[in-house]
Amino acid sequence: MLSEKMTKALNEQINKEMYSAYLYLSMSAHCTNAGLDGFANWFMVQYQEENSHAMKIYNYLNEQGTQVVLEAIAKPPSEFGTPLEMFEATLKHEQFVTKSIYGLVDLANQEKDYATQIFLHWFVTEQVEEEGNDNEIIAKLKMVGNSGNGLFMVDRDLGSRVYTPPALEE
Ligand code: FEO
Repeated sequence: MLSEKMTKALNEQINKEMYSAYLYLSMSAHCTNAGLDGFANWFMVQYQEENSHAMKIYNYLNEQGTQVVLEAIAKPPSEFGTPLEMFEATLKHEQFVTKSIYGLVDLANQEKDYATQIFLHWFVTEQVEEEGNDNEIIAKLKMVGNSGNGLFMVDRDLGSRVYTPPALEE
């Protein structure tokens, strides 16, 4: 059973995950428009991942017999600058999400809500992976600098990313 406070916080996290999905969908559209199809693919996969994060929390609230309350999703930006600036913005956003997850863990600990503590483990691990991916791509983009050939190769690399749905029951 979830407290009212925890229910509200998890509902807010659904909104943050949905906003993340929206943000990455907008980035994907921006990349498609710029002819960077591999980057567009990477952000489209990220969009799908974020949707699955929101659904994981949605399913958890349902399982706990609690009402999901959906709020409006904020409008994301549509201009993002260079690919490097876009990935720096992505990392910054993921750091914000990590802080938010840590806030949920703190609350679950304070409330001795053991079920939610265990549920949130997956998200803590996922955030390490997400920030790691962003850092890796930022390093590559810094390495290629203004080289068109380099950017072409990074684009080709990001084009190979495939969405793998996480098991919702995990
Ligand atoms: Fe759902 Fe990218 O954190």
